[in-house]
Parts: sequence; structure tokens; C-alpha cells
Amino acid sequence: MSVKKAIIPVAGKGTRFLPATKEIAKEMIPILNVPMIDHVVNEAVSAGIEQIIFVTAAGKEDVENYFDRNMGLEAFLESNNKSDLSSVIKKIGTKVSVTTVRQKEQLGLGHAILMAKDLILPGERFAVLLGDDLTVCSNPVTKQLVDISNEYKKSAVIGVMEVPTEETAKYGIVAGEFLTDNTLKMKTMVEKPKPEDAPTNLATPGRYILNSEIFSCLEKIERGAGGEYQLTDAINMLCETKEVYAHKFEGKRYDTGNLKGYFEAVVDFALEREDLREHVINVMKKSLENLS
Ligand code: G1P
Repeated sequence: MSVKKAIIPVAGKGTRFLPATKEIAKEMIPILNVPMIDHVVNEAVSAGIEQIIFVTAAGKEDVENYFDRNMGLEAFLESNNKSDLSSVIKKIGTKVSVTTVRQKEQLGLGHAILMAKDLILPGERFAVLLGDDLTVCSNPVTKQLVDISNEYKKSAVIGVMEVPTEETAKYGIVAGEFLTDNTLKMKTMVEKPKPEDAPTNLATPGRYILNSEIFSCLEKIERGAGGEYQLTDAINMLCETKEVYAHKFEGKRYDTGNLKGYFEAVVDFALEREDLREHVINVMKKSLENLS
């Protein structure tokens, strides 16, 4: 069975983006005119994912609505000679099947993933993508992980990147034995270790291929870092009995969960757009001249 489902947790409150997130879901904050969650879903879809399972909470209805059809708006655009825009919004509402499950209490990422247990078949593999990070690569990062999972006997694969040692306490950190330049057989995974306790500087920005075996680990783990049920602790438990791999993916990653990373993404995405590039460069030049 190939990887056809992706779990995307969207229940977080987005406090780093207040006051914007007082009334809108943080996932709906746009990079230019495209909500961040649309980029994450596109990464999943281009890896072959056909069903997105959002783990959601009260106040996140706009995420679900965004991936639904809006027939009224489509008809309005059609009748106003804007069929190009009508096709754009129709495509968003038809590109993937969406299911939602609620996380009634925010008890951590591990707890959020466990909420989707009944939607994954025994033995099925699935992707997990965290929306606070955007990745950009001609070969989408989730696709790279699916390929490794297929190669290594359909095992769990964690996407990792090198981070500065002083930043290990922001991430799940993996350790293991390198089998190739970029792929490790994992021995352990630790959630947010202090630099002095971190076994390596290989961190996951929230891209995983897992299989249904993770759920029995998620049911067994106790509260970990931050008093929350951590997906990292369940993966660490899985490493004890099953083959789990980590893969240093290719591509650029933006930490859009904080303002600096978000701004970097906005600038880079604007520079990538032919209709905006020259304008952005001119604006930046003028702003810098005015500063000096
Ligand atoms: C979560 C995960 C962590 C991962 C990070 C990536 O932490 O628990 O392992 O490295 O996302 O962004 P959070 O940032 O939600 O606290």
C-alpha cells in the first residue's frame, strides 16, 4: 500500500502571531496571497497524498472551509468575467479529499496524532506534516521521505536537517548510524534537548512518514517535554523494536512559526514571482537607502 494519507495537526493557538491569530487560524496567515496551510497541503499532494486529515480544534473552521468549494464565489467570478480566478478557487476546493478530527484538549503533538488513529488502516503508512514549517524543493520534501520509506522496506522515516547546536532545544533531535551520506538507521530521538544533552544536531522540522505501529506507542507514552504527550517519545519507543530511519532532505526550510522565518519566506516567495520580483527589489533598495 502506498502513502495516500497525511495527518496535519492544526489545533495550535498560534500565540506567536497574536493579535493576528485572535480571530483567524494561524494556518490561514498568507505568504503573499496564499495561506501557509495551502503550501503545506500542496507539498503533501505533490508527494501523492490523496486524503488530508486535519486534527483541528474549536476556532479552526476557516481551515476546513478553505479546502471546500465556494460555489457562490465561483459563480460570482464567472459572471464577472473572472473565470481565471474562479478556476483558481475551484482547484483549491477539489485538489484533495479532506477529513477532520477534533482534538478536544491540547495535550501535545503525540496526542494530536493519536486522534487520527481510527482513520488509518492496520499496516498503513501515512505522512505527518507540521504547518509551522514550509519547505521548498523541486522534489518535495515529503516525496523524498516517501521514496526512502519505499526503499527501506516500508519503514518509518523522519525528515531531518542540520541545525546550529545552540538551537537543539527547539526541535526533536535524532541519532543513529549513517547508512548512506543522507540516511541514518535511527537509534534514538529526543525532544528538545539542551545543546549539552543533544546527541547530534540533526533536527526534524516536522516531516514524517509513519505507519500504524506508531499508535500503540502513542498510547503508551507518558507526558514528556513541556508536560505534553510528544510524538518524538513515541518514535523513540518505536526505534526500540522496529526499523526507523531518518533522512537528511534536500531543500530550503522556513520556520514560518515565528515572525523572522515568516518574513524570510514572504521575501523569498515574492522574489520567486516574476510579476513581483523587480518591484520587490526596487522597494528594498529604496527602503535601505532611506535607512542610511
Ligand atoms: C514540534 C515537534 C518537534 C519538531 C518541531 C518542528 O515541536 O515536537 O519535535 O522538531 O515541531 O517545528 P513544536 O515546535 O510544536 O514545539
